[in-house]
Amino acid sequence: MTLNVVSAAYIVSAVLFVLSLAGLSKHESAKEGNRFGIAGMVIALGATIWLVLSRSSNALSTLLLIALAMGIGAAIGMWRARSVEMTQMPELVAMLHSFVGLAAVLVGFNSHLEVGSASDTVHSVEVFLGVFIGAVTLTGSIVAFLKLSARIKSTPLMLPARHWLNLAALVVSALLLVWFVRSHSLVPLVIMTVIALAFGWHLVASIGGGDMPVVVSMLNSYSGWAAAAAGFMLGNDLLIVTGALVGASGAILSWIMCRAMNRSFVSVIAGGFGQEVVVGDDVDYGEHREITAAGVAELLRDASSVVITPGYGMAVAQAQYPVAELTKQLRDRGVDVRFGIHPVAGRLPGHMNVLLAEAKVPYDVVLEMDEINDDFPSTDVVLVIGANDTVNPAAAEDPTSPIAGMPVLEVWNAKDVIVFKRSMATGYAGVQNPLFFRDNSQMLFGDAKERVSDILAAL
Ligand code: TAP
Repeated sequence: MTLNVVSAAYIVSAVLFVLSLAGLSKHESAKEGNRFGIAGMVIALGATIWLVLSRSSNALSTLLLIALAMGIGAAIGMWRARSVEMTQMPELVAMLHSFVGLAAVLVGFNSHLEVGSASDTVHSVEVFLGVFIGAVTLTGSIVAFLKLSARIKSTPLMLPARHWLNLAALVVSALLLVWFVRSHSLVPLVIMTVIALAFGWHLVASIGGGDMPVVVSMLNSYSGWAAAAAGFMLGNDLLIVTGALVGASGAILSWIMCRAMNRSFVSVIAGGFGQEVVVGDDVDYGEHREITAAGVAELLRDASSVVITPGYGMAVAQAQYPVAELTKQLRDRGVDVRFGIHPVAGRLPGHMNVLLAEAKVPYDVVLEMDEINDDFPSTDVVLVIGANDTVNPAAAEDPTSPIAGMPVLEVWNAKDVIVFKRSMATGYAGVQNPLFFRDNSQMLFGDAKERVSDILAAL
């Protein structure tokens, strides 16, 4: 009876999770999607706790232990969710993925120790794969966290025989799987765990700067498969369904992002396979020109069409509020103001859309890169606010550039381009941007929030 009710509850939760994903795919339905997700999770947790209690010989102490674990987890989760800056989201997400990996490793070992030599082949393979995926996710996510939070350098680690090392790790793990299935011994499982931990570390360490967004969504996918593997080991259908949903959606997102950056999916996930080592460029691009906030206000007053292309710097400066105010003022004056959003602008997918929505910029003026790229030649002024790699003409014009082939916002085709940043420093990918030296470009130096506020004052 209990099992039937719990199975039914799991099916309802799974449907709610699918509805949640569907809702989250559009601005307009995102809040509703979130509500479906919360409802699904509450039902899933309630049903699981009930199931555990109905099987426990000492229900009270089990309940207390669950409440204690959930209380500690919820307190830490709520504290982090409240205190995290939008710019730190990717590193937090990377950190959370590492927990899923760790959980899969622990569940795997626990499951093996419980069943021991009575394990059949299917169970042994489940345990082995679960621990392998979990261990790769664990260390891979830790390296991603360290890179994204700038605790270690984001340049790719280029060991001489790196692809052979990866291949050797996979082959040895496959042989260990055979040993494990035949012997049920803990030894091959432990050796494989050590190899998988090193493999995960090396895989992400050899992926460089510009490809990190794909890595985060790929680790998201791995964490989903790790959860699904844990579901198989625990015989929990909902965990299998949820893990598969996360695994598949993360893989699809990685693929979409690779397409947006014109990168080969296989080469990115194989740790920079087929990539050339990049040495810094020392080309002399000439002199750049500077402009003042009052000068920009003057240009905007005379403009009839303006496009704003925000990037990571807008997020750091929290400039979205004055940017929204500037948009409103210009629109009130009859200027056509639109936003051009690059698919990997910022540090996580949809980063810019979230910030602009938070500052109440109307959705209908926020366009995707493909929707706006043809309109730049007829645009009077482009305001590049804290963006760099995503507006770099070298991607389109210089086949030797490390970001060659990545589709970019072709802002340089507009009449005037104003670049808001604090210095002439490079962007995330570490390459110089020839846009800053073009005849129609001018630099407005300083913190983006302060400079946009200065323009508002001058207007
Ligand atoms: P970036 O290329 O990182 O450029 C950001 C620019 O903002 C920098 O040039 C920086 O110059 C400027 N900046 C920083 N703080 C500022 C402030 N307070 N005020 C004004 N300007 C400021 O950003 P992007 O164009 O958005 O490109 C995104 C890059 O990040 C891509 O390479 C992408 O692959 C990578 N990435 C993306 C994601 C996702 S999924 N979106 C995740 C991880 C990485 P100064 O230092 O001179 O001010």
